[in-house]
Amino acid sequence: MTSSAIAVSGLRKAYKDKVVLDGIDLDVRAGTIFSLLGPNGAGKTTTVNVLTTLAKADGGTVRIAGHDAATQPKAVRAAIGVTGQFAAVDELLTGRENLQLMVDLSPVPAKAGKRVVNELLERFDLVESAQKPVSTYSGGMRRKLDLAMTLVGDPRIIFLDEPTTGLDPRSRRTMWSIIRDLVADGVTIFLTTQYLEEADQLADRIAVLDQGRLVAQGTPDELKRQIPGTHVRLRFTTVAELDAAARVLNGSTRDDEALALRVPSDGGTASLRALLDRLDEYAISADGFSVQTPDLDDVFLALTGSRTQEVSAK
Ligand SMILES: Nc1ncnc2c1ncn2[C@@H]1O[C@H](COP(=O)(O)OP(=O)(O)OP(=O)(O)O)[C@@H](O)[C@H]1O
Ligand SMILES: [Mg+2]
Repeated sequence: MTSSAIAVSGLRKAYKDKVVLDGIDLDVRAGTIFSLLGPNGAGKTTTVNVLTTLAKADGGTVRIAGHDAATQPKAVRAAIGVTGQFAAVDELLTGRENLQLMVDLSPVPAKAGKRVVNELLERFDLVESAQKPVSTYSGGMRRKLDLAMTLVGDPRIIFLDEPTTGLDPRSRRTMWSIIRDLVADGVTIFLTTQYLEEADQLADRIAVLDQGRLVAQGTPDELKRQIPGTHVRLRFTTVAELDAAARVLNGSTRDDEALALRVPSDGGTASLRALLDRLDEYAISADGFSVQTPDLDDVFLALTGSRTQEVSAK
């Protein structure tokens, strides 16, 4: 077996004549976090549905933990846990009853089941509200319970469809640390999100989905590097210094109002040293400098929602 937890090739899916996934290839190594990033309607949930055997592909192959999703759906289901985009908890049951229901539906033996329920309630900080009906839970508590339910049976590959949408910053961070703990245990996480910061924080690899196609794939740093615009910004105290620096630094552009100079650079230590050496050589002192790298927001905006550009580029 390879170390791919998820291997997808040429995946296609249409609803009637609407093509939703138009040839997706991806590979997720075991024990890593993969984030599928994309705007509303990009096809994230559809991808999760096909990968978790909830929907059938129209073309391509999907292998999960080495099993083919089309021909061995049972084996796939036994290897995975899924937390859907909309909490799948039962409002009328208590938190504990919801978890117990999952245990009853799983192969976990009844005796061990009780322990599993208690451990999960504790781990997700839900002990106090365990006896209350879920209808009285906040959105964040529901999300946590939903994820706890996914963990019954200890799945090694977990799909999380927008696990933190609608959570406040604190609950989001709690969710992130739970996700990191799972990966530290060797679990593979496939996570969809609309939050670039989330992908940046968590993911080993990111794929950006737009209108059913992957428009970029790589580590967060690789994606950031795809967007040109990394530069060094130097600030000066006098116009004379700005003038002098602009003369000796090739390719720089000036911002007279801010007494600043924008110098293209890869941001690496070697080029920074060369830049500062050059200023030294001409006895020019800068008031301050900063390296400006594009963040994932820039990447996302540059890569998605550009159908017209794509068409006209052909
Ligand atoms: N069962 C279905 N029948 C018909 N069209 C569908 C169905 N499910 C999804 N679609 C369409 O497929 C496209 C992708 O939907 P999907 O739910 O995968 O997007 P998403 O990336 O998860 O979006 P969001 O961020 O809003 O959750 C949308 O245009 C949607 O209308
Ligand atoms: Mg969705």
